[in-house]
Amino acid sequence: MDEETEAQLHEVLHTPGFELPRAAVLRGDVIALRQLPALPGVLALLEDALERSFDGVNLEQIHAHFDFDEMKIRAERAYDRLVDDSRVPAAMQAVIGDLGLDPRKVLWEWPGMCLLYPVEQGGRGVYRAANSGALAAHRDTWYGSPQHQLNFWGPIKCLDPDATLRIYSHYHRKTVPNSSHGYDTWQNLAGVVLPPSITGDGVSPEGAFAPPLKVGDAMSFAGYQLHASAVNRSGRTRVSFEFRLLHADDEGQSYVPPNTDYYGIGEIYRGWYDRNGAQVNRLTGEITHRETASVPSGGSQVKTVVMAAPTSFSPAQAPSESACVRADGAAADIMA
Ligand SMILES: [Fe+2]
Repeated sequence: MDEETEAQLHEVLHTPGFELPRAAVLRGDVIALRQLPALPGVLALLEDALERSFDGVNLEQIHAHFDFDEMKIRAERAYDRLVDDSRVPAAMQAVIGDLGLDPRKVLWEWPGMCLLYPVEQGGRGVYRAANSGALAAHRDTWYGSPQHQLNFWGPIKCLDPDATLRIYSHYHRKTVPNSSHGYDTWQNLAGVVLPPSITGDGVSPEGAFAPPLKVGDAMSFAGYQLHASAVNRSGRTRVSFEFRLLHADDEGQSYVPPNTDYYGIGEIYRGWYDRNGAQVNRLTGEITHRETASVPSGGSQVKTVVMAAPTSFSPAQAPSESACVRADGAAADIMA
């Protein structure tokens, strides 16, 4: 398949009544969404988990205090804290509300943070609890993500103007040769598999979208978009977040691009949560994890959700925005 798209980058300052233009995003547009009111609430939880795991060190200077192996151990601890944080579901529901989406129709992914060392320190990173690097272009669908997935990415700490994730919108309706054949089978059978990567001549960055983003901004793009991270030349540890959403009304719509180059046989990504904070297998409707506890709030008893580590979700299944295949095409340590 080789079709041009009319994809555009939209700069949008969030205002009351905003509604995410899901169809436009899934057609290939990219939204640089400025100052989402509820986003700082999510970022605060991510920062809190990181700071507690890194002994309060300035997160942008983690590379100056910890070698990569120690950083990875602590990043794993931080993610463990985050998946145990009962405040996350409410914070995410507030973001979903800011996006003007009906929470009854939305499944959301537990947010994750990525730490990426400066290139001078090796340029390696960790996404959630898995090694990660930089550069490789991919579609999340190559990892078995749903075709109508909406992605959100942005900085937790100050981001250099040229350090935003690259969106190769020219390829939104173009077949990109890749090695996703059999990925789902091996992932299901063995749990670990080499990450799908581009085969052949690679892709051109011409026309790629990479808007500068400030803390409090989020870039929204289709998970189907071909995208890759930038090399970290800032001299600081890059600290970023990402999460994904699904809206039930988008599935199967004509504005969702057809699969042209995922060569697995099915959807395998399982990291979805419903409006109550319960982990759900969206293909079967099965609730795979829910735990509730009563806590006092304002003098009355309210139910809150206490999440344990997702049981059927492996970080290795999450297609990270900073993950990575080395330039020679060989797999990096692990794909997030
Ligand atoms: Fe991705």
